[in-house]
Amino acid sequence: MSAIRASPILKSNQSFKLLAGLVGSGAVLYYLNNTNQYNYSQGNNGGNKHQFGGFKKAAPLLGASFLINKADPPKEGDYESYQEIYNEIAEKMRNEDDADDGAGRYGLLCRLAWHSSGTYKKSDNTGGSYAGTMNYSPESTDGANAGLEYGRAFLLSIKEKHEWISHGDLWTLGGVVAVQEAGGPKIKWRAGRVDSPPNNADKIPENGRLPDASQGADHIKSVFGRMGFNDRETVALIGAHCLGKCHPSRSGFDGPWGPSLTMFTNDFFVRLLQNWHVRKWDGPKQYQDDESNSFMMLPTDIALKEDSSFLKYVKIYAADQDVFFKDFAAAYAALLERGVDFPRFSKTYTFKTLDEQE
Ligand code: HEM
Repeated sequence: MSAIRASPILKSNQSFKLLAGLVGSGAVLYYLNNTNQYNYSQGNNGGNKHQFGGFKKAAPLLGASFLINKADPPKEGDYESYQEIYNEIAEKMRNEDDADDGAGRYGLLCRLAWHSSGTYKKSDNTGGSYAGTMNYSPESTDGANAGLEYGRAFLLSIKEKHEWISHGDLWTLGGVVAVQEAGGPKIKWRAGRVDSPPNNADKIPENGRLPDASQGADHIKSVFGRMGFNDRETVALIGAHCLGKCHPSRSGFDGPWGPSLTMFTNDFFVRLLQNWHVRKWDGPKQYQDDESNSFMMLPTDIALKEDSSFLKYVKIYAADQDVFFKDFAAAYAALLERGVDFPRFSKTYTFKTLDEQE
């Protein structure tokens, strides 16, 4: 028996079931009119259908059993099954450590999770990772997402093996694996995203919600503020630029932020406080370090030094990696959950790294 099923919450759920049985189909019809989650049960991959699947047709017959099923956790969705998927992603990442000229897949997967979540708009609760909409145009073809098709393709074999996991859950879990396996902090994670079918066009966010790297501090504040983040959280999140690199064929920008592309550290902030100059080249405006001319910063990265409120946090994180890890872990976990309507009783998980299991 899984940990979830034995939990006291679900024991109290037994009496909830009894009560629900008395409520009758009037409550069911009310519920169906007031939630759109179950629509996604007819999505393209059957994600989470153990939880919501088929209710629409069966509701008039099932009566209050809809409420019962809504309260039950997904069949495969216990801690062990997600740790198993974590392990498979992590092992595949290890096997591809030399990919992308030594950048590996850590940066790519961390960015996929962030971009699938970073379309969130707090004012109307749209966007975010809930519905796996990056599978569909216009989000899939947004210039800001160039290159993330490689991240989605990387996770495809895992998706084929565990069909029941939704794309939103898989992509965000990939981000958790990337940060933890690169030596970063533990990222708390919850399951429960439900894929949208392709014809649910109003769920797919329009282009232009993700940040533009050629802009300054005002733009950063407006984009991250729209998602509901303050300056401290914003700076912490951008510290993920310790991982991976820029690709001229994807964003137009070129090169890594530092020498350790596969290690999650506070190195981005330490380097940012050093001296940088505008690189002379044919590409978009970017910066190069005075010392070696080997590393890069985006205009938005340099903007973190030019705004006094941002700079305060850059200095804190450069001086103390533990503080950065703590703030990053909280902000990244919150980012991945933005706009997600979690099923009742869904649990928060912390996964073991491959090293911890050896
Ligand atoms: C102002 C905010 C941000 C801007 C303008 C920005 C922009 C960019 C750009 C242009 C790239 C290069 C993509 C490529 O050519 O492959 C990139 C890469 C990356 N970004 Fe950001 N980013 C921002 C915030 C974030 C945040 C919040 C995270 C994560 C929490 C993040 C994680 C990454 C990672 C890990 C990479 C490396 C990707 C790889 O190695 O393939 N970025 N970012």
